[in-house]
Amino acid sequence: MRISISSTRRADADAIAFAVGKDALKELPISASKIVVEGAKSARFNGESAAIFETFVDEGGKTMRVLLVGTGVAGEADFEKAGAALAAKLLTSGATTLNVEFPGGANGDCVARLAFGMQLRGWRMDAYRTRLSEKQKPTLQDATLVSDASGASEAWGRLSAVADGVLFARELVAEPANILYPESFVERCASLKDMGIEITVLDEKQMADLGMGALLGVAQGSDRKPRLLAMRWDGTGGAQKKPAVFVGKGVTFDTGGISIKPAAGMEDMKWDMGGAGAVAGMMKALAGRKAKAHVVGVCGLVENMPSGNAQRPGDIVTSMSGQTIEVINTDAEGRLVLCDAMHWAQKTYSPEILVDLATLTGAIIISLGSEHGGLFSNDDKLAEELLAAGKAAGDPLWRFPLSDAYNKLIDSPIADMKNVGARGAGSITAAQFLQRFVESGVKWAHLDIAGMVWADKPGATWDKGATGYGVRLLNQFVADRLEQ
Ligand code: BES
Ligand code: MN
Ligand code: ZN
Repeated sequence: MRISISSTRRADADAIAFAVGKDALKELPISASKIVVEGAKSARFNGESAAIFETFVDEGGKTMRVLLVGTGVAGEADFEKAGAALAAKLLTSGATTLNVEFPGGANGDCVARLAFGMQLRGWRMDAYRTRLSEKQKPTLQDATLVSDASGASEAWGRLSAVADGVLFARELVAEPANILYPESFVERCASLKDMGIEITVLDEKQMADLGMGALLGVAQGSDRKPRLLAMRWDGTGGAQKKPAVFVGKGVTFDTGGISIKPAAGMEDMKWDMGGAGAVAGMMKALAGRKAKAHVVGVCGLVENMPSGNAQRPGDIVTSMSGQTIEVINTDAEGRLVLCDAMHWAQKTYSPEILVDLATLTGAIIISLGSEHGGLFSNDDKLAEELLAAGKAAGDPLWRFPLSDAYNKLIDSPIADMKNVGARGAGSITAAQFLQRFVESGVKWAHLDIAGMVWADKPGATWDKGATGYGVRLLNQFVADRLEQ
């Protein structure tokens, strides 16, 4: 969908929407005829956030679709919801071209947020649907937001870059594992080079030479070759010497390995690369809006398969850090991938801030469902900043504890640690495992986003399926914490 902001409406539009605040029906212009206002009242529409009233009017002999969309009372966030509601309503409605007007006025940020909501909610994955009936096909192509509010275009310039990042992450998450595997993930990110992102890729041999036994142990059961992908964006012209580093779990398919998962629902494990997808999406957003920050995104990319060459429960692997790990359960593979990716990232970039994102544990879904991602951190200030960024951006987080007592639960009698604890506190022991690979002085946070990257039902700005969770959160964190 093409969305633009303009001071003049498009003459050829076949639909017009009026953004109406709560209790503000009286602000509608005469052009929204009496019958529209009366109809809206009868339908109990009163400008509530994301509420929609739709009707048709005769405009000089032409039948025009008219919508009222509620922008509530909560400012920008409600404008975003209104834009999303409009996109959901009109996407396959038959309408192709839309004007959106703001009779009660709206500042530039609000207008841009409405555009943002439309762009996010208007996304669908149709690449593999070759037999859609005419009625099922998206029709809405162009939306013009009619406004001359100052700053609207600049704000939309920034937000459309963020939307591009979110949609990129969704695309990566939605692709099936026969299409998206470590090498093809890297290829998809190659286009980021044209945006000024520097790309580094390590292959299996290079990772073996570096001693990444934990990551390679996971990869060894698969015919798909692993990759480590690093994407660097410096929008400070060298002023920020040390980049902030974000590391994503990129298990392009997780069968569980020899500790194989049950068949029911296993198809979900195509999105076990959601952390890596969020990191790649963030990089696209940052470069797209030319963020004044120095940031590196690292993706540990592997496929976890059972085979004659797969690692076994009880195997002991040596990580790049030198620490040894007893692999009790080959399905606890994400931490094995992340520990080497995190160690390499710290050795390579000496960051002060390290944040990893991973669909790491089913236990986090038991704890938080799909309402919050889990946050773990060794630094209270960093934790607060991430919580605040999540809240502001609409990707909420909830903090969990870390402690020596939890850490002990993954001591192994034969190696430095084992890769799983007992049944209790599964998300926390996973975080404790990762913390053992954080160098002293590094401010670190781990985001367990297993419940967030895929949705069983539509949300405000996404349909069922890939949500793009994490991109807005990280973008907001970078904007608030790293940009001057
Ligand atoms: N990728 C899964 C976690 C997951 C489960 C994500 C469900 C999304 C939905 C992870 O690799 C895994 O298998 N974790 C195990 C850990 C266990 C073996 C300690 C789990 O959560 O069951
Ligand atoms: Mn697993
Ligand atoms: Zn996994």
